[in-house]
Amino acid sequence: MSYYEIQGGRPLGGTLAVHGAKNSVLPILAACLLVPGQCILHNCPDLSDVSATLDILRLLGCRADREGDAVIIDASAVNRSDIPEHLMREMRSSVIFLGALLARLGAAELSYPGGCELGPRPIDLHLAALRALGAEILEEQGALACRCCRGGLRGRELCLSIPSVGATENAMLAACGCPGVTTIIGGAREPEIIDLQSFLQAAGAQIEGAGTSTITVQGGVPLHPVEYRVMGDRIAAATYLCAAAAAGGEVELTGVAPDTLTAVLACLEEAGCTLHTGPDRVVLTGAAPMRGISPVRTAPYPGFPTDAQAILMAALAGGEGATLFVENIFDARYRHVDELRRMGADIQVAGRAAMVSGVGRLHGAVVRSTDLRGGAALVVAALGAEGTTRVSELRHIRRGYQALDKNLRTLGADIREIP
Ligand code: UD1
Repeated sequence: MSYYEIQGGRPLGGTLAVHGAKNSVLPILAACLLVPGQCILHNCPDLSDVSATLDILRLLGCRADREGDAVIIDASAVNRSDIPEHLMREMRSSVIFLGALLARLGAAELSYPGGCELGPRPIDLHLAALRALGAEILEEQGALACRCCRGGLRGRELCLSIPSVGATENAMLAACGCPGVTTIIGGAREPEIIDLQSFLQAAGAQIEGAGTSTITVQGGVPLHPVEYRVMGDRIAAATYLCAAAAAGGEVELTGVAPDTLTAVLACLEEAGCTLHTGPDRVVLTGAAPMRGISPVRTAPYPGFPTDAQAILMAALAGGEGATLFVENIFDARYRHVDELRRMGADIQVAGRAAMVSGVGRLHGAVVRSTDLRGGAALVVAALGAEGTTRVSELRHIRRGYQALDKNLRTLGADIREIP
């Protein structure tokens, strides 16, 4: 079983181009199903979640090829509407194919998606939105069979009771295939939703409002082939920034919009780091040691992202002073805490709250990734720790980070993968 071996305590320095956003490219790849022709996506990160999505597209009858950082999808000949369970289980975001397949073929048969490591992750909002648009959905023994009701899909007003990212994206895709106007009220406002909208607009869709909580789609408009560049990954950027904050040094990130990182940058600044931003870049100069900061409460965008909670916690655990974290999005998102404790962290968890008391410096240990961002958090902790850390279960990390070890070496870190 391969693992990263990390020798901590070396300050980071240099410039790194952040790869394309995982949470953007997955729905955009699904959206390619709506285009009966060839789409080219640039800045498409090489991640296991992306490979799994390409496998699904191929199975459905698309051509899907990678050329460097571009992926070429030709969905002219989509001929299947069913996705087998083993592909659905690979990742939670496969549920996005429900809306895309309904829009393209008027039917979808798939199983409940995988990716339950953060606690229960229901899809009731996704299903309610699609039913409201006219889909009939049968749920039987973990399988979902969806088809249009007799009148076909029809645009209408949809209200989401929680601003779910995935449900908003599913509703947007399905609505593109529905004649009439769909208004999504209470939608998520994440930058990745804006990126999905920009792709759809570039392909000719009549959709607007992403970035606000009301999104309007004039559906039934035929889409055309498009070449599109995926936005930079704000969570990968947050990871490299927290790594530099934990290890010290000065790091410049390019290819990421600082205004997608406002909540994270505010925390790092409060912890004593110095930040400079430009249109597509962020420069962080680390403060050693980091200081404890005001409570970090995860919230839908533009609040502090749940995906950066473990990563910031790992950096602050090796700083000085106390910080309270409150996880408001997922029920079981503190699984990294036990692993951080092996490295000497002092973290008390009570329900949704976790009190981190900085210990000055963590120490190396043998630890295990518990999930994607939890695994990245252990790497961040290890870079600032004294001594050697081994981080195993790298498959979690590969879901969301392209060449994490190589990128960190570019910045001067002592990290290598032991096969
Ligand atoms: C997306 C991101 C994930 C991020 C999360 C929150 C992708 C591929 N994944 O996940 O990285 O952590 O947003 O920013 O973009 N909920 C329901 N019913 C539903 C759907 C969601 O109750 O039908 C709840 C969830 O349990 C959770 C909350 O809504 O408590 C937010 O989840 P959601 O925004 O849907 O997350 P994902 O789209 O799964």
